[in-house]
Amino acid sequence: VKLQQASFTISAPDIRRLPDDSGIEVAFAGRSNAGKSSALNALTHQKSLARTSKTPGRTQLINVFEVADGQRLVDLPGYGFAKVPLEMKKKWQKALGEYLEKRESLQGLVVLMDIRHPLKDLDRDLIEWAADSELPVLVLLTKSDKLSQGKASAEVLKVKKALKSLNADIKVQAFSSLKKTGVAQATQVIGNWLSA
Ligand code: GTP
Ligand code: MG
Repeated sequence: VKLQQASFTISAPDIRRLPDDSGIEVAFAGRSNAGKSSALNALTHQKSLARTSKTPGRTQLINVFEVADGQRLVDLPGYGFAKVPLEMKKKWQKALGEYLEKRESLQGLVVLMDIRHPLKDLDRDLIEWAADSELPVLVLLTKSDKLSQGKASAEVLKVKKALKSLNADIKVQAFSSLKKTGVAQATQVIGNWLSA
């Protein structure tokens, strides 16, 4: 699998507008501003494949990137951002929920959390849901460049410990789109899911 070959396929407001639900998808989920779109760009070695922004709530649609025939990466709308009109929030949270519940081709979930504020309630809900659904999870603790290496490693251990009792297929690693920390390891995990 060559993630570099990813190309934009479609932005869909809801799951009905997505490509056929066949093949394998790996989705990127997390709070608004966690660094999902930046991580997608780092992992595909493309500067502006996914749109990033300083303003939380940038990704409001389900964005699909095809890596190869039947292998897709999906950038999901962020959750947990208060400052958007309620109607809008409802719309994309519905799209997110429907995607997670109904998408058969979803075979792996990358959950991104800012390493300085991991495991907020909605993050826990998402990870617990994935564990219950037997969906493998890769937790990326993003923006690790904001902490010293020692503090970052301690945070990784803390999160691993907190998730251990779920007894599920959950990997946790530090990640920085800026410094490319964890890119090689995450590429391997995602590549394995896509080629399973
Ligand atoms: P939404 O689409 O709004 O849900 O956000 P997102 O999760 O896609 O976040 P995005 O990738 O747009 O990044 C949000 C902000 O965090 C931007 O200002 C990025 O430049 C910054 N950011 C992302 N990754 C990193 C990183 O590894 N290090 C640092 N220092 N900043 C980062
Ligand atoms: Mg985004």
